[in-house]
Order: sequence, then C-alpha cells, then structure tokens
Amino acid sequence: MKNIMVTGGAGFIGSNFIRFLLAAEPDLNIYNLDLLTYAGSLENLKRLPNSDRHHFIEGDICDRDLVKKVLSENDIDLVVHFAAETHVDRSILGPEAFIRTNIRGTFILLEAVRKYWKIDSRKIRPDVHFHHISTDEVYGTLASDEPAFSEDHQISPNSPYAASKAASDHLVRSYFHTYGLPITITNCSNNYGPNQFPEKLIPLMILNAIEGKPLPIYGDGRQIRDWLYVEDHCRAIWTVVQSGKKGETYNVGRENQPTNLEIVQEICRILDRDLPDSQFTPHENLIVYVTDRPGHDRRYAMNINKIIGEVEWNPQVNLKDGLELTVAWYRENSDWVKKIRDQQEYQSWMENNYHDRSIS
Ligand code: NAD
Ligand code: TYD
Repeated sequence: MKNIMVTGGAGFIGSNFIRFLLAAEPDLNIYNLDLLTYAGSLENLKRLPNSDRHHFIEGDICDRDLVKKVLSENDIDLVVHFAAETHVDRSILGPEAFIRTNIRGTFILLEAVRKYWKIDSRKIRPDVHFHHISTDEVYGTLASDEPAFSEDHQISPNSPYAASKAASDHLVRSYFHTYGLPITITNCSNNYGPNQFPEKLIPLMILNAIEGKPLPIYGDGRQIRDWLYVEDHCRAIWTVVQSGKKGETYNVGRENQPTNLEIVQEICRILDRDLPDSQFTPHENLIVYVTDRPGHDRRYAMNINKIIGEVEWNPQVNLKDGLELTVAWYRENSDWVKKIRDQQEYQSWMENNYHDRSIS
C-alpha cells in the first residue's frame, strides 16, 4: 500500500487527479494537504470514488511542523505537489503570495521530505519519490514561426507567476543533484475541464456567455495556448510517477494551437446550438476586446516527443470533444458554480481585474 501526500488537492487539477487515482488504483491512500485558499474548495472533493482512501488535511505547505507531521504520521512515500498560486493576472496585481507559496512553500516541502526520507547524512531512501507539477509558462513566449518548447529550451519566465514556478522547478531539480532526492517534474500546457475556478479563460467565458455578460478578450485575442483536457494531464502525471526517470523533466501538452478568439468562438458555437432560444444567441455578439494583460505571452507550444517516447503516454481527448465536455459540465453543475461564485472574494477579484480595462 502506497501512502501519497497530494498538496493542493482541493484545487482544479489536484482534485481531478485525486478522483482519477482513487478510481484507477486500488492500493493507495491519499493524504490531501490544502490550505483552501480562494481557489480550493471541498466542493471539488464531493462524491469521490473509494473516498475512504482519501484523507483531507486543511493546512499550509509553508507550515513546517504540519508538513512534518503529515509525512511521519502517515508514513508517506510519495509526494505529488500541486499546491500553488496559479493565476497570471493575480500575480500581476499581487505577486507576493506567489513568492510565498510557490517558492518558499516548495522549499519547505523539499526540506521536510529530505529530512524525513534520509537514511543518514549522505543517503536518502531509494524507494521514495517527489513529483513536482509545473507549467509551460516557465519557458517564456514563442513567435508564430518558432519551434515548440522542448525540455531543454531556455527558461525565460515573463510573469511573476511563471518566474515563481521556474524558481520552484530549479529548487526541485537541485535537490536531486545535491541530495539525491528521487524527483520528477512535469511541465504542462494550459488545462481545462471540470472544476476549474471561473477566473480562467474557458470557464469564465462559458459562464459569462450563458448569462449574457461581456466576453472580455485581452488585446487582439490572437494569443495561442496548447490546451489540454485535465484528465489527460492527470494520466500523464501518474504515468511519469510510475515510469519516468528520476531527475528528469517531461513536457505535457496536446499540440493544439488555437487562438484565444477561436476558443471563445467555439464555446459560443456550442452554446448557440444547445441554447437556440436563449436571448443571447448568437453568443459571439457578447465578445468585447479589452485592455491587454501587461507582458502577455503571445504563444505557447509544447514538444511532447520525450513523454510519448519514454513513458508511453498519449493525449486522448481532442480539443473539440474536450470543449463539449467542459461546456456540458458547467451547464450541469450550477450548484457548484453558485457556491464557488458566491464567495465575496470572487466578486472583488472580478471587480479588481476588469473594472479599469477599457473596451475597444
Ligand atoms: P488551482 O489554483 O485551481 O488550485 C491550487 C490549490 O492549491 C488550491 O486548492 C489552493 O487552496 C491550494 N493552495 C494554495 N496555496 C496553498 C498553500 N500555501 N498550502 C496548501 N495549499 C495551497 O490550481 P490548478 O490550476 O489546479 O494548478 C495546480 C498546479 O498545476 C499548480 O502548481 C500549477 O502551477 C500547475 N499547472 C496548472 C495549469 C493550468 O492550466 N491550470 C497548467 C500547468 C501547470
Ligand atoms: P488564463 O486562463 O488566465 O491562463 P494563462 O494566462 O495561464 O495562459 O488565460 C488564457 C489566455 O486567455 C491568456 O492568453 C489570457 C487570455 N484571457 C483573456 O483574453 N481574457 C480573460 O478574461 C482571461 C481570464 C484570459
């Protein structure tokens, strides 16, 4: 029986990962350490399969004593680290929380596992594993004619979020080289799917469109992201944990290259088809162009040859099907949407981020 500590498991990808793992693997216990910031919610952990093997612990990865206690009381032999501040726009308006959780929090976790898993001052147990979840944003931005990011692309983060994730990646890597801590890292492209907090592009646009609110496109809307359905990401993480080489980084993506505008138009098309009687059909009329994000990365693209070749993972859900599934999920889960958006914090974020973006 494996005992896994998942950090940030009440957030979007972490909760999807826990749901996936409890269904896929019979022989493990999950200890989910999450601070329940604005982005985390117990609503994401309702109706888990085999829920008796999931244990929730509310707490901060920056709390050394708590991390130590979770490791030792539960005999943890694998850590899968999702916990982070994750929204680029928030990192522009308030970067400090990103430095604290993403850099300091990762450091505290690494120190705790290094001490807990050590055999003596020179050796760490070989049967343990620390897997770190990261992003393609650490590589910076690409022009339209540049090749996709491979794992050895230079690290050139452009937002405080991306810089804090790059710093955490470097720390994790250094613990392998310096202390021999068995680690792996996955750098993944933009995810979408069930339970994503509605400050991110896809859920925000789905919900605004259904309610007839403006669909705010930053700049010219021609920025490109390599969107990946969250379940494919969860399988990639688990495949790398099981078969990845220690000390290595694996890119995860779907080789999708739509513009933001095309994503929003596709969401509008799905809603026009499904809600022909809505007073907001055609939903595309709700699109407005607003002031761009400062330092906005133009294009991300992932070269996924390494993960496909070395650990035999392949993405399964194409973008069209994934968007259909996602729109359906947000339409069918209005209780979740209401509970998440009723928080005062959400209303103030929307006001903060959008009120002085002028419309062109
Ligand atoms: P999210 O914002 O939905 O969830 C983050 C979770 O971490 C929340 O449950 C929050 O409560 C928790 N958390 C935050 N600070 C904490 C702290 N100090 N201690 C304990 N828990 C804390 O994030 P997400 O989109 O699920 O992303 C998860 C991970 O995947 C992050 O590391 C992110 O950088 C990475 N990632 C995300 C994407 C994406 O498109 N969302 C893509 C690639 C990589
Ligand atoms: P987002 O979902 O915030 O992810 P990331 O910044 O990590 O890529 O944004 C995805 C893209 O959508 C990004 O290019 C910014 C753009 N965007 C908008 O045009 N309007 C919005 O209201 C938001 C939130 C994002």
